[in-house]
This record gives sequence, structure tokens and C-alpha cells, in this order.
Amino acid sequence: MGSKMAKTRRPLVAGNWKMNGLGKSRSELKKLIAKMSGKKLRCDALLCPPATLLSEFRKLSKGTRLRLGGQDCHPETAGANTGDISAEMLADAGAAYVIVGHSERRGDHGETDALIQAKASAAHRAGLTAVVCIGESKSEYLSKRTLRVVGSQLSRSLPRKAGPGNLVVAYEPVWAIGTGLTPTVAEIAKVHDYIRKRLVQRFGRAGEGVRILYGGSVKPGNAQEIFAIGNVDGALVGGASLKASDFWEIIRAA
Ligand code: PGA
Repeated sequence: MGSKMAKTRRPLVAGNWKMNGLGKSRSELKKLIAKMSGKKLRCDALLCPPATLLSEFRKLSKGTRLRLGGQDCHPETAGANTGDISAEMLADAGAAYVIVGHSERRGDHGETDALIQAKASAAHRAGLTAVVCIGESKSEYLSKRTLRVVGSQLSRSLPRKAGPGNLVVAYEPVWAIGTGLTPTVAEIAKVHDYIRKRLVQRFGRAGEGVRILYGGSVKPGNAQEIFAIGNVDGALVGGASLKASDFWEIIRAA
């Protein structure tokens, strides 16, 4: 069930606030920072709020280990793209990471693997780490096509050149996002081992260092069990990242 070797990759716990952050959830950031302050973390902690909050959060988190990220970016640097935000703009606002290819972008906005690859390359151009999301739908899961789907998404949406310093892969089964459902430990281990194999095939030794996150209904109650799996190097957390106490518990479990 996954590699039993000691983990050499530093875990990453990433929070994805999605389109949340009005009112009370905003003050959760201050609570999170208060919890983090003065503590030695065994993982990297990342928060991806809506882009409108990035510069405010940059000020609030100054001097802490918390890193910030965007939730999406446009492949171009600048131009006539109403409503879009470039990777360079995210970097300018204080982001060090950007999520690309989240299933809500793939589904709600019809994003293709080719577009996601272009966005990941844009992230690199801007000096950001790309968190590339992949994962199968419920029907693909039920018809046992998970590895085939994940393999195809990997070969088409990853940038041609990447390494541990600028790429993170997030495996998020679409049916596990926001549903309270998760695959079994054995199922997660199998997919993460497969992703590792593919990363090494593609990037050589650099592929060993790329972090692979699990995402989909990660909570304080299941984080420890999921983090114990060999090729799981952290989590991408949606709902539970909105509450500072829950997100902090997940960070501490890593
Ligand atoms: P969830 O979302 O933790 O609320 O299931 C995860 C995600 O969409 O990244």
C-alpha cells in the first residue's frame, strides 16, 4: 500500500477557499495566523483565497510561514481578457502558488487539459508553483477507469518541464469533493503510486521530489490516516479550510 520508505518530501497542506471569504470567514485568517505563530510546522501551509483577498492576506500573514496562492490564472501575461487574472498579477498580489485545472474549472468552465497545461506553464513563467489538479468522475470511478483517466490528464495537462520547486500534483476524485465521501486508503495509495510512477517517467529523478496531494473531503478526522499513505505528500482542502480550527488540525496532522 504505497511506499513504506520514510518520506523525504516536506508535506504541503493547501486550503482552497473557492468563492468564499465574505464576512466572518475573513476573520478566520487572523485566527489561523494566531494559531500558527511561534509554532514549528512539519509541513508547508498554503492558503488560496479568492484573488480579491490576496493583497490583504499578504499583509496579515507577513512574517508567518503561511504561503498564499491563486485559484486559477490565464495563460497570457496581460491583455484584452475581461475578467481574467494572469499568473504575473497573482505573483504581484503576493501569491507563490496557483491552482490550475481544479475540477470545478474543468467542469463549470469547460477547461481542457491543453488549456490547463498552458496555465501551468504561465505559472512557471511568473515564478509560481503550479498545483495541477486531476481526478476521475463518479462514473469513471464506478467503471474502474480511474488510472486511465488520471494517466491521460497527467500526460496532457502537466507542463513539459517541471520539478519539485515549481510543480505540485493534486489528486482529487470529483465524486469526493464536498461530498463527505473518500476513496479507501488502498484506493488512494494505488492512484498516488501510479501518479508517482508517471512523474518519474516524465521528469526523471525530479519526479521523485514532486509533491502529490490528496483532495476531496479531507477533514481533521481523516487527515492522519490519509497522510500516512506512502505517496501522499499532503492535502488540498476545500470546506475544512474555511474554519481556522479545522484547517489547523489538518496542518498539525501532516
Ligand atoms: P473539499 O474540497 O475538501 O470541500 O471536498 C476539496 C477541493 O475541491 O479542493
